[in-house]
Amino acid sequence: MSSDQPHIPAPTVTVTDNRTGSSVDLPIVSSSHGASGIDVRPLQKSLDLLTFDPGFMSTASCRSAITYIDGGAGLLWYRGYPIEQLAEKSSFLEVSYLLLSGELPSAPHLDRFRDLITQHTMVHEGVLKFYHGFRHDAHPMAILLGVVGALSAFYPEAMEVSDPACRMTSAYRLIGKMPTLAAGAFKYLRGEPFIYPDDSLGYIENFLRMMFALPAAPYRINPVMVRAMESIFILHADHEQNASTSTVRLAGSSRVNPFATISAGISSLWGPSHGGANEAVLHMLQQIGDVKNIPQFIARAKDRNDPFRLMGFGHRVYKQYDPRARIIRKHCMELLDELDVRGQPLFKTALELERIALEDDYFISRQLYPNVDFYSGIILKALGIDTSMFTVIFVLARTAGWIAQWMEMIAEPDQRIGRPRQIYVGQTQRDYVPLAAR
Ligand code: ACO
Repeated sequence: MSSDQPHIPAPTVTVTDNRTGSSVDLPIVSSSHGASGIDVRPLQKSLDLLTFDPGFMSTASCRSAITYIDGGAGLLWYRGYPIEQLAEKSSFLEVSYLLLSGELPSAPHLDRFRDLITQHTMVHEGVLKFYHGFRHDAHPMAILLGVVGALSAFYPEAMEVSDPACRMTSAYRLIGKMPTLAAGAFKYLRGEPFIYPDDSLGYIENFLRMMFALPAAPYRINPVMVRAMESIFILHADHEQNASTSTVRLAGSSRVNPFATISAGISSLWGPSHGGANEAVLHMLQQIGDVKNIPQFIARAKDRNDPFRLMGFGHRVYKQYDPRARIIRKHCMELLDELDVRGQPLFKTALELERIALEDDYFISRQLYPNVDFYSGIILKALGIDTSMFTVIFVLARTAGWIAQWMEMIAEPDQRIGRPRQIYVGQTQRDYVPLAAR
């Protein structure tokens, strides 16, 4: 910089400790869009203070160039591309490429990527044996997190997380094998034989075939089912620094291998406050049972003294219509028509509930719109997928985002193990009292 250029000071925020009058200038970390952050690292050194933010709702844990959400405006972008455009025009594998590399692929690059994923759809026969060790009624998420973690034992070279080529091979393996492992859990649950992958099929077609085909009969792939499932995959592929993604980043920050890292993400997603919402939608619809019971449940949802809430309505981040819900609704309606099931009590109840809630002042005034889980729950049920498998489908989709986030974290030049701090509120130092004296 030449000496006659005016010096523009870096933007800062000054924090003053009123107890002592000491202050520190904290640099502002600029974003390319949306809220910027405050670099609080000098705080402790200068003022002996930590930040306190349980639930991390006001904490940016990283810089990320992958996904952007503006809940107030109802925006979701992957690498800058609006979710509406990707859901309408793209495929899950193209979206996975985009999340991992940052750019949309050229046609040859997409072909190559598809080939690389397809090469990795088979799993070691030893892995298939694990399934038979589980109880017949094991939850498929329990099976999935176990077998994904166990893949660590089959690919010792994946420990080399510092090697970008090695990381990429693990990414192909995880995206390629996840449908095979998930379908394996579904088959085990049903007591049906495992169906091996068919590499001549597309990613979604192959998954549906591994789930629903039986060796005794030909399996016909329905394109409306494929499109509905593909939209669920695209819409759930990434969602910024949610609990499971943050778990992946924190677990992976110790430089453990990616199979163990993703298994940690699966564990976090399993929780009812996270990936279990569409399962909860189905339980609620079953509980309502019939259209005639809806007014009674709407009344309960409005009653402050009743803990009942309409599952699949409202969202912590989106205070506008969830952009994913608008897209998935279209596929949901197409699928219900294609399968001719709109008249079945469960789907009739769902559609009537949606209609009433969208017209009711309680829900309108609180901006409680149907969310993506409301429609994905209906789609998965219409596809004939057991409710306990719903979160497993979420895992398949989110694997692409988790790996992209893990890779971004590992590639950071100053990457360090994650180590949050705490505000200690326990006893101060005291002396040990011998047992006989207590
Ligand atoms: N049914 C009835 N009333 C509701 C619902 C609901 N589903 N959601 C919120 N409200 C009411 C609250 O009682 C509150 O009313 P009040 O202002 O009279 O007190 C008002 O709407 C605001 O609610 P908050 O709890 O402040 O909203 P918050 O943003 O914290 O909650 C949440 C969001 C947790 C998603 C909530 O809407 C909910 O429980 N929804 C049902 C569960 C669900 O579908 N979760 C999946 C979300 S998608 C996902 O996480 C992937």
